[in-house]
Amino acid sequence: MPTFPFKTLFCAAVFSFAGSLYAADEAPITIKFAHVVAEHTPKGQGAVLFKKLAEERLPGRVKVEVYPNSSLFGDGKEMEALLLGDVQMLAPSLAKFEHYAKAVQVFDLPFLFDDMAAVDRFQAGPQGKALLTSMEGKGITGLAYWHNGLKVLSANKPLREPRDARGLKFRVQASAVLDEQFKALRAAPRKMSFAEVYQGLQTGVVNGTENTWSNYFSQKIHEVQPYFTESNHGLIDYMVITNTTFWQGLPEDVRTELNKVMGEVTLEVNRQAKALNDEARGAIAKAGTSEIIELTPAQREEWRKAMQPVWKKFEGEIGSEVIEAAVNANKAS
Ligand code: LMR
Repeated sequence: MPTFPFKTLFCAAVFSFAGSLYAADEAPITIKFAHVVAEHTPKGQGAVLFKKLAEERLPGRVKVEVYPNSSLFGDGKEMEALLLGDVQMLAPSLAKFEHYAKAVQVFDLPFLFDDMAAVDRFQAGPQGKALLTSMEGKGITGLAYWHNGLKVLSANKPLREPRDARGLKFRVQASAVLDEQFKALRAAPRKMSFAEVYQGLQTGVVNGTENTWSNYFSQKIHEVQPYFTESNHGLIDYMVITNTTFWQGLPEDVRTELNKVMGEVTLEVNRQAKALNDEARGAIAKAGTSEIIELTPAQREEWRKAMQPVWKKFEGEIGSEVIEAAVNANKAS
């Protein structure tokens, strides 16, 4: 009787059919996207939108897990985690790249950009674009720039003139440029991760800091800082990055679609960033905890002059052509 071989053949056919079904129904590619800020911020909203659009456009093929508020990796650990493949996407502040690309330090130079339109022009120009790919040899691919906005000073005393900052301890991001910026004011910079800022200010480990309105409000910094000075003296923006090996190993159609999604999300983040910061400024003013000091043009000029020596110190590392391109971006063409 041929029953047995027939059955065997039948079973083999069923299994191989099931196997090919399984192949077509592979587990989705998981992208862990970690960041250090709250969800109601330009970056927080960008990560959420990226997840939504990526999963809508690539159903069943890509799953994005967003980890806000340093809940997966915080400053200091996240880059290493990206290189190890423990997380696939990050959007660190541009102040956090000095160990990977010295030229990215250009974004930290005080009083470099007149406004966010100038930042847009620089980032879209050849020098700005080149920075996105400048770390590929180190395993990091830049996918996009996302805006937050211009920095405001905060302190436990009113800061109107540069000399008001003398002797105060300021929290800074892990950036040599920002360290020098506060030294130029004869203040004492302290590098500290973002997750530690509230407590650092509350306990007096530091007396002041610099950040955007959306970062201040979402971290409740106004509860522990009675004064804000609307200096707009520098920039907090992000580079969305991925692990180069991971990105290049994606199926081509998936990578192409994710690049498209990233482009759309970037436009949206950069369109919304100012509104989110304006809303946060309004909320801090309404909270009534803190005085918001606006500088006169003459006072702002004093701050610019006091911080200016930082530029010379970093010209060699950053490259004068990169600085020049950034300065030229202030002139609308
Ligand atoms: C900071 O560390 O102060 C910020 O740059 C955090 C962020 O990602 O906005």
